[in-house]
Amino acid sequence: MTDIAQPVAVRRASVQDLDRVADVLAKAFANGDKGSWLIPDGHVRSRLLRPWFTLLTKHALAYGHVHVTTDGEAVAVSFMRGGNQTVPDIPGYNAYVEQLFGTYASGFRALNEVTELHHPPDTKHHYLQFLGVLPHAQRRGRGSLLLDHLHQHADRRHLPCYLESTGTNQTALYARHGYQMQATFLIARGGPLLQPMWRPALQRRASGLPRCLPPKSGSQPEVTSAAWRDGSVLAA
Ligand SMILES: CC(C)(COP(=O)(O)OP(=O)(O)OC[C@H]1O[C@@H](n2cnc3c(N)ncnc32)[C@H](O)[C@@H]1OP(=O)(O)O)[C@@H](O)C(=O)NCCC(=O)NCCS
Repeated sequence: MTDIAQPVAVRRASVQDLDRVADVLAKAFANGDKGSWLIPDGHVRSRLLRPWFTLLTKHALAYGHVHVTTDGEAVAVSFMRGGNQTVPDIPGYNAYVEQLFGTYASGFRALNEVTELHHPPDTKHHYLQFLGVLPHAQRRGRGSLLLDHLHQHADRRHLPCYLESTGTNQTALYARHGYQMQATFLIARGGPLLQPMWRPALQRRASGLPRCLPPKSGSQPEVTSAAWRDGSVLAA
């Protein structure tokens, strides 16, 4: 799957990358179940997602982690959550959403509320809020590269990771990287299904061999033996 022609690495983004990051995220999320449910008209969607992602990226640059591939074609946005980790709200966010999205605002409000409601509260973890790759660069390994980078950081600190996936292709990608499916939920009645996924913290046995903690109670283990064999989980 990894067939990036030029050597590509991962680096932390800075404020200088704000426009690029927002652009990648807006283009990556313009197609797909969530985007087309939130704003059915493709032209309006392309126009409105860009400023929304600019606001979210600014917030993530201040309070989270934003990583980009060195060719600028893929982005990961994550936050530390759970335990005693708190991420401040974006000041005036609801008013901004009303003003920017107008009649589409209710979908964005629902997305925000429902993801917060279902977010695992207790254990300190990495929350991968967005992973986006420019459409022409998808399926060439950049998403996996950013995931590996996040997981190396998480595994060194024995931290779990959490994300919400949509669609079977994405869910398969995350399962290959060690995530396990949790109970699904809808953004709203008639809206797309979100598939929360949890990647357990890496633990070490007395023997020194790495292993993962068992999934939380109520979760549905979905990691296949192939996912464990590919080394992605054990690469820390
Ligand atoms: C999902 C996504 C981040 C994967 O990045 P990528 O660089 O294409 O992924 P990789 O090349 O490392 O891995 C390829 C795998 O990702 C998944 N994938 C790739 N493109 C996808 C797409 N457009 N939609 C859903 N899943 C996709 C598939 O499982 C694929 O494996 P396959 O080719 O064997 O089917 C990227 O496709 C994307 O930006 N999608 C749109 C935005 C999005 O939905 N982001 C995730 C939610 S936060």
